[in-house]
Amino acid sequence: MENHRPFLVLLFFAFALGFIAVVFVLRWVLHFREGLAWDGGAKEFNWHPLLAVTGFIFLQGIAIVVYRLPWTWKCSKLMMKFIHAGLNVLAFILAVISLVAVFDFHNVQNIPNMYSLHSWVGLAAVILFSLQIVLGVCIFLLPVSPGYVRAAFMPIHVFSGLFIFTTVIATALMGITEKLIFGLKDPKYKDSPPEATFVNVLGLLITVFGALILWITTRASWKRPSEQLLHTLHSNEPASVGTKTDTAISERPDPEPNSEARRRNGKTEE
Ligand code: HEM
Ligand code: HEM
Repeated sequence: MENHRPFLVLLFFAFALGFIAVVFVLRWVLHFREGLAWDGGAKEFNWHPLLAVTGFIFLQGIAIVVYRLPWTWKCSKLMMKFIHAGLNVLAFILAVISLVAVFDFHNVQNIPNMYSLHSWVGLAAVILFSLQIVLGVCIFLLPVSPGYVRAAFMPIHVFSGLFIFTTVIATALMGITEKLIFGLKDPKYKDSPPEATFVNVLGLLITVFGALILWITTRASWKRPSEQLLHTLHSNEPASVGTKTDTAISERPDPEPNSEARRRNGKTEE
């Protein structure tokens, strides 16, 4: 890999910021808010931000960069697909539980459902995410789709994955702002009580985490090398794993640089 050190530094910061964001949201609900329980009240609502940030943001971010970790390049592509898909499914399950918590809370408290922009964008993101999983499994995991279908679908998969991830972060920022406006009464949000400052910092952590994940995922030179190149490297040491063969998201007309060769071999990587 080219620029190995900057990659590791950014990856470290991304993981650290994501983890600190999870600790922040935990402290928010336990220390500044009512805590956690499944009782139809405020404590049940608190599962919503906690699971949304832990699952839908932190886990999804990790799932997205998992192919890029250089120490996984000796693992088979199939195993990496299972890990990528498994982490995304876990993120989805946590997101759904977080939605059940907030819908149940609203129903018990007689608060209307789906009135806010936050809820519209959030629900759309969850629905698109489930579609992404179904299409990802059908096209890339099950051995049914031909190589040219996988190659044609890859840029769409990558774009929609990054689009959903970004949308989820925007949703969380809206939700955080709403909760601070609704929840802080005396002193109010505009008076900047300690909770407001603390949770504003949480919003910043989430934003920077998202930016780092997007940056890492759009660097062409940090992409997992093609299977063919990895195979060549394993059999003809020494060589440096240059990834000039790969292209960035914005320049991926054919996501499989060696797709022609692979198609001829009747194999496909994706
Ligand atoms: C409500 C989605 C994160 C705060 C909702 C609702 C949805 C949703 C669909 C509507 C529930 C209903 O109408 O009964 C999401 C998604 C998130 C997310 C997909 C993923 C990031 C957050 C976060 C907070 C938050 C981090 C911070 C506290 C709220 C609040 C409500 C709510 C206050 C009730 C008011 C409203 O309906 O807008 N959320 N949410 N959400 N969410 Fe989130
Ligand atoms: C690559 C997102 C589910 C298979 C990617 C990338 C993103 C992404 C952003 C680009 C990664 C990179 O360039 O480093 C998502 C999201 C999913 C999801 C958000 C869930 C909603 C799946 C599933 C599969 C899958 C279920 C099935 C195996 C792949 C494959 C790649 C990929 C094969 C290509 C990796 C490479 O460039 O070598 N995904 N994905 N994805 N995804 Fe997914």
